[in-house]
Amino acid sequence: MTLSLWTHCQVATMQPQAALPYGLIQDAALVLDGPLLRWVGPRSELPPDLARACDVRHEAGGALITPGLVDCHTHLVYGGDRSAEFEQRLHGASYEDIARQGGGIASTVRATRQASAEQLSASASTRLRALLADGVTTVEIKSGYGLALEPERRCLEVARALERSHPVSVRTTFLGAHALPPEFAGRSDDYIDAVVAMLAELHSQGLVDAVDVFCERIGFSPAQTARVFTDARALGLPVKLHAEQLSDSGGAQLAAGFGALSCDHLEWLSAEGAAAMAAAGSVAVLLPGAFYFLRETRVPPIDVLRQHGVAMAVSTDCNPGSSPCTSLLLMLNMACTLFRLTPEEALAGVTRHAAQALGLQDRGVLAAGLRADLAMWDVQHPAELAYAFIRGHRLASGPVVRLCAGAGCQRAAAPVQPLRH
Ligand code: NIG
Ligand code: FE
Repeated sequence: MTLSLWTHCQVATMQPQAALPYGLIQDAALVLDGPLLRWVGPRSELPPDLARACDVRHEAGGALITPGLVDCHTHLVYGGDRSAEFEQRLHGASYEDIARQGGGIASTVRATRQASAEQLSASASTRLRALLADGVTTVEIKSGYGLALEPERRCLEVARALERSHPVSVRTTFLGAHALPPEFAGRSDDYIDAVVAMLAELHSQGLVDAVDVFCERIGFSPAQTARVFTDARALGLPVKLHAEQLSDSGGAQLAAGFGALSCDHLEWLSAEGAAAMAAAGSVAVLLPGAFYFLRETRVPPIDVLRQHGVAMAVSTDCNPGSSPCTSLLLMLNMACTLFRLTPEEALAGVTRHAAQALGLQDRGVLAAGLRADLAMWDVQHPAELAYAFIRGHRLASGPVVRLCAGAGCQRAAAPVQPLRH
């Protein structure tokens, strides 16, 4: 394996117990051993033997190096768009009104069912490239716009294939219980039977890494959620939940009872829900893009989550209906401005805690033995990543160089170039 040494950089390790905020190391050195990180620390402490053993040396031009960003909640693969619904909402209709009238998720289901794998892949690839330009190296992609075996399979296959054609790790989540498809109108329990059957089939094909449900009055009930989760756990799959987005259904407690990796949205989360999440170690995934785009006014209870020590992640929720957004860095900014996270909490939310929300222990922090999965930034301080919300000037000068390990990354690896200053 090639040992490569990086110097002339500062590193935000995002290690939880680090002495300095962000785990920041000024004048740092990193040694990469193929796809793994062999050593990270102050340059002055780099063992001379290890420095001599490095075959390749890079100077990073003063760049900040962070863990590659993790977008842990997206609905990246879908057909069509919902700009007409956006107009409807500006004429006074609510998100829930539109859903009840057969629009909303159902309209994206119609467009997704009509789209070929090639069309789905092309549009998802455009969105994915935007995420990659923001330093994302791992993305979760949910199904949930097919709502029948073949189109759900098509979307999950497209999601898996994106990992082979782009420098990114993809984790797939089966969200068959996202909405009631029209052919099951008035028969939601029958549809849950169908979801359970789809799950078994798609899991047997290796297409499912986790299982999610939209537990909401316009989605599925807690009892229906529990049925899907019982099956998922029997198959050995971890679960996650779209919980307490529009109302408090007690979804967080329910999901925590199944050891959920995460509960996502959480504007209506109760103190009991937060306590249950803390006890189960479930991550709170905050989605400021959906909050902003639906013009919600009730902020997730950040202080309650802090008091209970619940890890908070931040994600785009990229989807056509509630968060047509492909910038994770913009979500960092919105997590701070709208939800009052600190920039350090926000950055932990797209690194360490986002990896935790996907059950991934090999990334999200920079430490010896973990993946060499990094992003390099042309900034002086990590807070800048959350501070700026228009980055045109930095995009023009090429802000991010990605050193990313893992299957997809290696296949599509581009030569790494130090930043110019
Ligand atoms: O995460 N809440 C449910 N699912 C998506 C929205 C889906 C849609 O409107 O198309 C969400 O907000
Ligand atoms: Fe979502």
